[in-house]
Amino acid sequence: MRFSILFATSSKQMTIVMPLAPNVLYFLKFVIQINYMQKITAAITAVGGFVPKDVLTNADFEKMVDTNDEWIKTRTGIEERHILKGEGLATSDLVVPAVQDLCKRRGIDPNEIDCMIVATITPDMFFPNTANVACDKLGIKNAWGFDVLAACSGFLYSLTTGAALVESGRYKKVVVVGADKMSAITDYTDRATCILFGDGAGAVLLEPDTDGYGVLDSILKSDGSGGKYLNMKGGGSLNPPSAETIANKMHYMFQDGQPVFKFAVTGMADVSYELIQRNNLTADDIAFLVPHQANKRIIDATARRMGLSDEKVLMNIQRYGNTTAATIPLCIWDYQDRMKKGDNIVLAAFGGGFTWGATWVKWFI
Ligand code: UT7
Repeated sequence: MRFSILFATSSKQMTIVMPLAPNVLYFLKFVIQINYMQKITAAITAVGGFVPKDVLTNADFEKMVDTNDEWIKTRTGIEERHILKGEGLATSDLVVPAVQDLCKRRGIDPNEIDCMIVATITPDMFFPNTANVACDKLGIKNAWGFDVLAACSGFLYSLTTGAALVESGRYKKVVVVGADKMSAITDYTDRATCILFGDGAGAVLLEPDTDGYGVLDSILKSDGSGGKYLNMKGGGSLNPPSAETIANKMHYMFQDGQPVFKFAVTGMADVSYELIQRNNLTADDIAFLVPHQANKRIIDATARRMGLSDEKVLMNIQRYGNTTAATIPLCIWDYQDRMKKGDNIVLAAFGGGFTWGATWVKWFI
C-alpha cells in the first residue's frame, strides 16, 4: 500500500489518494477529505478608548435650557457627557488617543496597523477622511483607511467590514474605530436633543484567528425612509452651506425623538433576537449584551426581548450619553475586564438612516 498526497490548499484541505493495489487492473481510490477547521476569523485582540476631560452634567443643562435632572435621568438614563473643548480639535483628536491606548494595551507600534476604518458622522472634514487624518497624526505610514457614515450603527457596519478584510487573509491588523464629536453638530438651544449627546472614541484591533474566536456573525439592516426623522440637512450637496442654511440651523443634527424611539425599540430588539435565534444561542449562552447607548429604555426593551438578566446588559450611558458611533466600543472598553475568553457577546445598534444591526462576537482576550 502506498500513499500519495495530491495537493494541500492554503485552507489546509488535503486530498489523499490511496492506490490500494497497484498491480491489478482495477484498483480502488479512497479520497479522504480532511478539514482542519482552519477558517480565519477576526478576533478582537485589544480595545482602546478615549473621552475628553470636560464634562456637561444634567445640572449644567438646567442652566442652559428648560429641563431638569429628573426628566433627563428617567427619560434617558443620562447623568453626564464628555465634551471635546478647544480650538482646532476635531474627531481625529478623539481617534488618536483611543488608538494609542489600544496599541499600548496590545504592545504594538501604530505602524504595524494595516488598515484603519473610522465610523463617524462628524468627520474632521468631508475629505480627506478622518482615518487618513488620524493615521497622519499617529505617524502611521503603511496603512490605508476610510470612514464609514452610518450614524449610530457605524461601528457595527465597520466591524463587519473590518472583519471581512481580516477573514480574506490579506490583512493582519485592522483597527476599527467609532468616534464622534457630537458637540460639533448639536444645537444647544434644543432641549429635546442637546441633553442626549456627548463626545468620545472607542477602537478595537482585529487580528486573524483560527480557533473560532472573534466576529462570528452579523445582521445589518437599513431603511432610508427613516431619514426624515434623524438627519443633518445642511452642508452636503443637497444644501451646500450658505447664510440661509446657517440661519435655518441646518448645520445641526435634527431628531424627531418619538418615532426614532419606536423604531429603535423594535429594530434593535428584533435584530438581536434574530441573530441569537439563527445561531442557536439562548439567553444562557450570552455573557453580555453591549447595546448602543441612546436611551436606557430602548436598552431595557432589547434585553427583555432577548430574555437577558440585568447583569448581562452593559451600560455606561449615565456617564457618556449618546456618543453615536463610539457608544459600543466605549462600552466594551469600559467593561473589558469583566469579559472572559470564550464569552459570547452580542453587540446591537440602531440609529440614523435608519440603520441597525447586531453582531455576535466570541471574546478572545
Ligand atoms: O442614537 C440615535 C437614535 N436615537 C435614539 O434612539 C433616540 C430615540 N428617542 C428618545 O430617546 C426619546 O424620544 C427622547 C429621549 C429624545 C425623548 O423622550 P420621550 O419620552 O420620547 O419624550 P417626548 O419627545 O415624547 O416629549 C415628552 C415631553 C414633551 O412635552 P409635552 O409636549 O408633553 O408638554 C417635550 O417637550 O417632554 C418634553 N421634553 C423635555 N422636558 C424636559 C423634551 N425634552 C425635554 C427636556 N426636558 N430635555
